[in-house]
Amino acid sequence: MDRQMIIAASLEELGAARLLLDGIVGFVPTMGYLHEGHISLARRAREECQSVVASIFVNPTQFGPAEDLSKYPRDLKRDLSLLESAGVDLVWTPDNETMYPPGFSTWVEVEGLTKPLEGASRPGHFRGVTTVVTKLFNAVQPQRAYFGQKDAQQAAVIRKMTRDLNFPIEIVVCPTVREADGLAMSSRNSYLSPEERKAATILFRALTAAKSAYERGERDAEELRKIMKETLASEPRAQMQYVSCADYDTLDELETVTGKSLLSMAVFLGKTRLIDNFVLE
Ligand code: PAJ
Repeated sequence: MDRQMIIAASLEELGAARLLLDGIVGFVPTMGYLHEGHISLARRAREECQSVVASIFVNPTQFGPAEDLSKYPRDLKRDLSLLESAGVDLVWTPDNETMYPPGFSTWVEVEGLTKPLEGASRPGHFRGVTTVVTKLFNAVQPQRAYFGQKDAQQAAVIRKMTRDLNFPIEIVVCPTVREADGLAMSSRNSYLSPEERKAATILFRALTAAKSAYERGERDAEELRKIMKETLASEPRAQMQYVSCADYDTLDELETVTGKSLLSMAVFLGKTRLIDNFVLE
């Protein structure tokens, strides 16, 4: 059966199209400029749900004043064609006025979990994410929502918010999709110069080095952080912002790795800030 993908711009159009969707609805929120990482979420939703909704909205409130909102890459035509090929039923492309009407003053904030790592480097970022995801959830009313492990802290924060606020939505976290040389796919990779692009594999190499040590039996978290730092320091184009070896759920820094844990990092290549992580099971 070949159905045409519906594109809704306004909240009213979304509401009308949503009423026509059958069964379990899976939702993939994005900021567009889609790559194989995003599409893997849409495909997974396609496999697991009767209906699939995606959204494209570059959310201004999750960008800091010095960040890249105005130059965030966009290509709506290509995005729509990729989503259609992945079998998405409905795409919502709200505008700023719809998401943030004049006088907007209501925020959703997860405490604690949003403080370290990305939260420490990007104040206000997660408040923007949780607020917009709440609004997207309310409008789309999915039964399942799909997020990438690539943004590990975001996934943890959304899981927590969903539990804390009793959203009747199952959060599904999908594996990080990588380029052949290990670089995690990201819309921001398009900012890298050819030299920076080559150097950017250092994140994957640092994570691999720490994971290998872990697999050889290293359980001292400080030692694992040191291995990541030293590997990153071997690449002159890379400027480390943080490395972390933390509990998978609470994101508290560990002394000793015992349960499920997260190795993560943020690194500048020139002006471009990249993040990546590995899960230790
Ligand atoms: P965006 O960066 O467009 O990412 C949309 C989704 O794709 C997120 O769940 C992200 O984790 C996932 N993703 C990105 N790169 C990936 C990769 N290489 N492998 C697997 N999944 C990947 O994350 C956001 O948008 C926004 O914060 C959003 C949740 C849409 C709220 O504005």
